[in-house]
Formats: sequence, C-alpha cells, structure tokens
Amino acid sequence: MSFTHPNFGTLDDSRIIIFDTTLRDGEQSPGFSMNLQEKLRMAEALAELGVDVIEAGFPIASPGDFESVQSIAKAIKGPVICGLARSGRADITRAGEAIAPAERKRIHTFISTSPLHMKYKLRMEPEAVLQAIHDSVTLARQYTDDVEWSAEDGSRTEPDFLCRATETAIRAGATTINIPDTVGYALPEDMARIFSMLRERVPGADRVIFSAHNHNDLGLAVANTVASIRAGARQVECTINGIGERAGNAALEEIVMALRTRHDAVLARPQVASEKILKTSRLLSAITGFDVQPNKAIVGRNAFAHESGIHQDGMLKNAATYEIMTPESVGWTKSNLVMGKHSGRAAFRDKLRSLGYGEIGDNQLNDAFRRFKELADRKKVVYDDDIAALVEDEVMREHDRIRFVSLDVRTGSKAKPSAELELEIDGVVHSGKETGDGPVDATFNAIRSLFAHDATLRLFSVGAITEGTDAQARVTVRLEEEGKMVDGQGADTDTIVAAARAYVHALNKLLVKRTRTEPEALSA
Ligand code: KIV
Ligand code: ZN
Repeated sequence: MSFTHPNFGTLDDSRIIIFDTTLRDGEQSPGFSMNLQEKLRMAEALAELGVDVIEAGFPIASPGDFESVQSIAKAIKGPVICGLARSGRADITRAGEAIAPAERKRIHTFISTSPLHMKYKLRMEPEAVLQAIHDSVTLARQYTDDVEWSAEDGSRTEPDFLCRATETAIRAGATTINIPDTVGYALPEDMARIFSMLRERVPGADRVIFSAHNHNDLGLAVANTVASIRAGARQVECTINGIGERAGNAALEEIVMALRTRHDAVLARPQVASEKILKTSRLLSAITGFDVQPNKAIVGRNAFAHESGIHQDGMLKNAATYEIMTPESVGWTKSNLVMGKHSGRAAFRDKLRSLGYGEIGDNQLNDAFRRFKELADRKKVVYDDDIAALVEDEVMREHDRIRFVSLDVRTGSKAKPSAELELEIDGVVHSGKETGDGPVDATFNAIRSLFAHDATLRLFSVGAITEGTDAQARVTVRLEEEGKMVDGQGADTDTIVAAARAYVHALNKLLVKRTRTEPEALSA
C-alpha cells in the first residue's frame, strides 16, 4: 500500500516520517525554555539531521512563541514546519499565520477524547468534541493542505469513540492522525491494538498517515513507538535526548537507531543522517544546560564505553562481540583527542567541529579559544567534555541580557566572606560587593544587588565534569519565580565562579520565561 501526502507525495510502506517536537513538547518542560536564537540554532541542526517535520512551537502561547515559529518558518528550508493549535478559532488562525512563510507547512490541531479529559478538563459532551474536531480541521485546511489531528489522551479513549473521532477528522480533511499516549500509561500491545483497530475500522484510514506520540512516564515511550510502527504507524513524534513533559517524550536517537539496528525485524526506514545525532544531542545540552545521564542510550558518555576486562578483550578481537552498532554511526569519533595549552587555534576549531560546534562564527570562536587557553593554563589536560562545557557557558549564551564578567571572593574561617562581582547587564558593566554566610551566599547576594529580582533559590548542586582535583566544577542552580522554575548551569575550575555563572544563566532563562503565558488547558 502507498500513501499520497500533500507534503511528502507517495510514500512506500517502509518510509517512516520523523516528526521532531523538541521545540514544542520538549521546550515546554521545566528548565528547557529557549530564546529565539537558540530555537533557530536548534531548528537548523534538526534540518541538517534530516528530520521530516519540525514542530516549531505553539504560536498562541505568547508573542515570543509566535515569533519563533514564524522565524523558523522563514529561515529553515527542507523540513515541513508545523505549528500547534488547540481546536479554537484563535489558536488555529494564529498557527496558520505563524507557519505562513514556510515552503512546506503543517498545522497540528488537537483535542482530548478520553472520558476523563472530556468530562473534567474540557467539560464537553462527546458530540460537542466531535463537532470541534470537524470545525478545527476544516478551518486548519484553509491555511494548509497538510493538517495533523491529535486525539489527546488517545490511549485512554474508548475504542468506539476514538474511531468516530478519527473518522470525523479524516472527513474534515486531516492528512495525519496522531494518537498520543499523553500520560505515558500504555503498554506496547495497547498501542499496537489501537493502530490496528483504527486502520481496520475507520473509513478513509488508507488515505492518511497514522502517527505515534508516546510519553515516557513508565520508561516505555520508545518501545510503544516501535510497537506502533509494527501496527502501521508511519510517523513517529519524538524529541532529541527524549526531553519533554514530565519523564519526557520518546527519544529520536533511540527510535532511529532501534529501527536501523533491527531492520531485520521492523520494516521501517527513517531518513535521518544518523551520524549527526550526537552533534544535535550535544547542541541541545549546550543550549539548555542539561547533560544527558552517562548511561543514556546512544548519546550518553558511557553508551559505547567498555569497562570490564572481558568486554575489552572481546572488543579487541572483534567489535561485534559487544557492539550492536558502531559509535561512528551516531557521530562518536574514535579518539577523545586530548587538548592542552600547546594546542593551536586550528586544532581547537577542528575539535569544535567534531563536537558539533562547527558552525560558530569567528567572534565566538575567538571567545571560546581565549577561554580554552585560560582553562588549559589551569588544567593539565582539557577533555571533550571540558570544551563542550566551556562553549556552552560562553558562546551559546551570547544573547543573554546578563553576562558574568569577573568575581573576586574573600573567604576563610576568620573574616565574613565577601564577593566582589562584575556583571554586564544589557551591555553595561556594573560592579558591586556583598557579604554572606559563605562565599556562595555572598556571591548570590552580589548578583541580587546588581540585578534585583524576587526569585527563590530552590536547588544548588555541584558536580565534577571530569576527574582530578583540577577538574572543572559544574554547578546547577534552580530558581523559582511565581511558579515558574528554571535551571541554570555554569562550569569553571573555581566552584564559586561556576556557581555565579550558573545563577546568571538561570536568571537569563527566567527573563525569557517571564515573557511567556502558558495557555489554559495545554496538558502535554
Ligand atoms: O502528549 C500529547 O497529547 C501532546 C498533544 C498536544 C499532541 O503533546
Ligand atoms: Zn506530548
């Protein structure tokens, strides 16, 4: 069987559409908000990776969200650019306007269909929900021929009603039908049963693409996605590093590599350039300040590390003994080439390229190189992770309103600790001196005196990026203001400097977040 799709033409059975929602479902989770420049960078990287659809945001959410979807629609060529909308006229109009500049565009509209959501969240009767589906999809079709409709909480929807809702959406002109496991409740066989049922029972099912959208509350998002594909889903919705609401969404890198590695068992061909996966994952970590855990599949630091002697012996004899895919196939390079104070600019640029920061401009390269040299003076060897932390600290934050300049701390067991701090705020350098109950407290007091704000410190944690007493510290600071939570990260060989950088990073994220108002009833 083959599909004819307004944006993808004729697709054969095995072609899988990769719908990336890092900038929408991923970005709306705590601590992951991005500013316009960061979203554009991320969208460029996703286009290079070769995803088929970029869900660029939720245009009605705020003027900032509208602007980012519109800017991505203008700037990014290749993937279909999609904007999310609830079923109301205002949402759909706003999404239609935001995606208008895109070469290839899609509106994704959704409404809840489960008894629980219809009764308590929407307070709507099922018949009214069906009417809303008809009206929203019909309106969305006025902006584009490529309309995706989602049954929010689809996995907990009555089967008969899900069939009726899907049929209504198809009749109104939806070209993709997405069935989310919004709360991450389903098992793989549940998702398989739902897609088989819809394909079998719904008139017109052969004229649309079915799509899987799984959340990871039970750690089953990728398994559910693979099961959905086996039952006929031809689009998968996913995010880089699996970021997303609560426990996250299905991770793009895991889905792609599961399909590549097990093509013997699953007839499905995603068309992404898998060797760019690591670079894209690192870019996201750099932008958001969240590293993936070391044992994260595909992109974690240990994903291809072989520690046990038996494994190392097997690997030396034949890598296939313990490796089911090559590290190179997802972008890992063989050597973790160590850099030091004698490394030159060219080697540094090469290193940045291999770490996924190849596209940085000359000014940014100069800044990063200067910081690298300073670091190399203080630290014998500079590892990849040090460089990634440095680039994310200095270069990726060029659009921040507040920038760390310098810090001088006096502490010890006798005098009251004090911190003398310089910050650049909106381009002007300000300095101030404060005391505190310890060097960190004094530093944070100094930040508060230079940039007044009411946020409360919710978390302060310190870790080491690499081993050794000269290792860089990575500090995470969580701030809360009026229910809005942000995490900032900072790295330096001096823990107090890292703390100051982390606080300033969190503050910048808070400023971005202040401009956003979450629309009511957007639950996932
Ligand atoms: O999880 C979900 O239900 C969603 C929809 C908006 C598609 O993200
Ligand atoms: Zn979701």
